This record gives sequence, structure tokens and C-alpha cells, in this order.
Amino acid sequence: MAKINVIMLIAILSVYVISVSVSGRDRVVPIHPYLSGEEKPISNIYDTTNYGIFQLENGLAATPQMGWNSWNFFACDINEKVIKETADALISTGLAKLGYKYVNIDDCWSDLLRDSKGQLAPDSKTFPSGIKALADYVHSKGLKLGIYSDAGAFTCQVRPGSLFHEPDDAKLFASWGVDYLKYDNCFNLGIEPQKRYPPMRDALNATGRTIFYSLCEWGVDDPALWAGKVGNSWRTTDDIKDTWASMTTIADLNDKWASYAGPGGWNDPDMLEVGNGGMTYQEYRSHFSIWALVKAPLLIGCDVRNMTAETFEIISNEEVISVNQDPLGVQGRKVHEYGLNGCSQIWAGPLSGQRLAVVLWNRCSETTIITAKWASLGLESSTSVSIKDLWKHEYVSLNTVASFSARVDAHACEMYIFTPSTVTRSAS
Ligand SMILES: *[C@@H]1O[C@H](CO)[C@@H](O)[C@H](O)[C@H]1NC(C)=O
Ligand SMILES: *[C@@H]1O[C@H](CO)[C@@H](O)[C@H](O)[C@H]1NC(C)=O
Repeated sequence: MAKINVIMLIAILSVYVISVSVSGRDRVVPIHPYLSGEEKPISNIYDTTNYGIFQLENGLAATPQMGWNSWNFFACDINEKVIKETADALISTGLAKLGYKYVNIDDCWSDLLRDSKGQLAPDSKTFPSGIKALADYVHSKGLKLGIYSDAGAFTCQVRPGSLFHEPDDAKLFASWGVDYLKYDNCFNLGIEPQKRYPPMRDALNATGRTIFYSLCEWGVDDPALWAGKVGNSWRTTDDIKDTWASMTTIADLNDKWASYAGPGGWNDPDMLEVGNGGMTYQEYRSHFSIWALVKAPLLIGCDVRNMTAETFEIISNEEVISVNQDPLGVQGRKVHEYGLNGCSQIWAGPLSGQRLAVVLWNRCSETTIITAKWASLGLESSTSVSIKDLWKHEYVSLNTVASFSARVDAHACEMYIFTPSTVTRSAS
């Protein structure tokens, strides 16, 4: 009898929910049962079983962080004028309004040595007004300031690191009004990251200032397994390069950790290269779409003072950004690949309101038709779905069932929101 009731229940509800309680928040993730006998996806997009066990509770990162970082375009060639002009440009272009709030200074802001009191000090040639003045300026624009240090003896560009100086450096950052810390992994003396990253978490917390804590451990010791209780995001891979090969490799490596991400703590496949010149328009569009889908931090890495119209079009796509910032906070993932070398790929993830974000991604060098079958999305084939194209900004269907196909150019992707209009299941 009990067995029959369960079967009947499943027959009535194609979507049921579980509630994950985290940091006082309740995240309700829909569970679509995958039916036996249907094509099994590579991964269940509703699997969040590893998320939320020990989230860092500093109240930040309810959705992935958005902003800009100096490294990918400027590397060490930074100064306070560039940072201020970037803050100005984020406002004047409208990017700040779309959510790009953090203005993050990467390596090379600091002097080569600590000062006579043992404190970090900004490079007096490039940041003569100091970081406090810069923070005040950035705050006056309604933006937030990020800074960079290293869980080692030195930063990667051989400035002083914060290892064994955590309380002093955290206090200094807080006194300057810093809102975000990217914490790198160079010159780490061979000490395991699980020992080097928590002291800075505790030091930041002890300042009383709410500071976003971004771990940059390069994925060496599988931080998804332990960093949830340490930081608001953790790098899952080596540094991105401005190439198709690097971007696709990183997307695949990061995918493995999808079930660990969620509000409060995100997998970080590194910052955006869109606009830096090493990839085509279609490749950058894929880069941005996939980063949005997988709930990666959206940290612009180009010179926002001097963007092309194409670059701006990509990073200002509000519908794609809203997928990234969706309150459900479930990382999208690769659900199916087929064809020569697995070139035809379907990536997808659940969104709030029983919707799905779906990306059809052509990883090969010839135009192809890619088909997503409902089974790989956890939908029953009779479910009727309306489909909004997030790059064309229009509905391409109001009632598709069973599967959806689109022509996708080489290295391009198409991105959609699927809204199931019926969730009935045929009783068998
Ligand atoms: C410090 O940590 C506690 C416990 O996780 C948290 O409630 C509090 O908000 C944190 N404070 C800051 C400033 O991050
Ligand atoms: C702006 O970007 C273009 C390339 O898109 C470059 O040729 C030009 O030098 C840049 N201008 C400035 C002022 O950086």
C-alpha cells in the first residue's frame, strides 16, 4: 500500500522539492526525477548534495560576486589613476547598475617591503594617495573596493605576503575600508592550504568589517571539498589565459565541483577575458554564457575605459547576468555531449520559478545542429516548454516538447531559458 502511494505521488508530481537550510537561509531546489529507461545525463543538474554543510557565515555572496579586476588586462601596470578611471567607467557605461560593483586591485599595489612598523604599504609611486583615499573615492561612487594579498611569504610578483601577518594585514585592510580580499597561493612554504587560508578568514572576521574572502588556491588541493567554511569563493583551476584552449579546459575542470557551490560559497574558474583580444566574438560569448550558467564570479578583466561595442554587448547582457544572479544559486553543468570528440554539448542548470537555463555549445570548428533532449534535462518528454533565446532576446518557441534543436556556429553557443508550462505526467 505504501509503495503504491509513493508511485502515485511520483506520478502526480513531476517536480518535488527538498529544502536545504544554510546559514539561516532556505534554498528550495526542485528535484526532477530521472526516469529509468531514458537517456541518462552525464550529471544530474539538481544534485546539490555536497552544498551547504559548513558555509562561511559572513552574510556575503548570496549570488556570485560581480565586478572588475585589474590583472587580466593590466597585470603589474596599475596605478591609482587607472583604478579611479575604471570606477568612473563602470558608472558611465551603466555596468555598475547591472551589478558590477567590486573594483578589485590585484597584485603589485604594494611596496616591495613592509614599512618600519612591519605594516604593508602601498607603492608610493603608483598609489601616492594611499588605499584609504582610493576606497573613499570608489565608495563615493556607490562601488566597493577589493585588494589582493597572498597566503605565503610573498605575492606572486614578490611583494610581501600575509602568511603569519594575518591579524595585522586584515586590520589594515579594514581600516582602509577594503570590501574584498583576493588571497593568492605563491611562495606558500609548502604548508598545506587548509592551514594557511583559515587564519585570514578569522582575522578578517575579527576586524568586524564585512569583507568578501576570495580564495585563490588554484584548485591544487580540491578546495571545493573544504573551502566552503573558509571563503566566499575558491578558485578551482590554474589561471585562465586569453585563449579558447584555456577557457574550455577550465570550464570542464570547474564542472566537476558543481554540487558543492551555492549561496555563500562559489566555485571560481577565474576571471573573465572577454574584451582582451585573444578570442573571437563567438568564443567570448561562449565564455560569458558558460561562466554565467555555472555561477562563476563575473569579474570583468578588460579595460572598461576602452571597450569595443561587441565587448560591451556581451558583458552587459542582462538576461545572461540574471541567470548568474538567480536566487536559487545552483551551478549549471554539462549534462550531455555527443558527436565527434563530444563537440556537441548541452549545459544546463535549474533556476528559480521551476525554470531551466540551457546552453547549446559547439566546441568544434564547423557549424552544427545541436539537440537537447528533455531526458537529459530531467524533464519528461511530454512536458511543454516555452523557450526564450537570451542572445536574440526573443521567444523562439512557446510549446516545444521532447527535444529542442538549434544551429550553432563554430565555437559559439546559444543560451536559453526554458519555462515548462505543464508539469503533468502521463500515468502508466
Ligand atoms: C564573523 O563570524 C560570525 C560567525 O560565523 C558571523 O556571524 C559574523 O557575521 C562574522 N562577522 C564578520 C564581520 O564577518
Ligand atoms: C583602445 O583599444 C584599442 C583596441 O581595441 C587600442 O588599439 C587602443 O590603443 C586603445 N586605446 C587606449 C587609449 O588605450
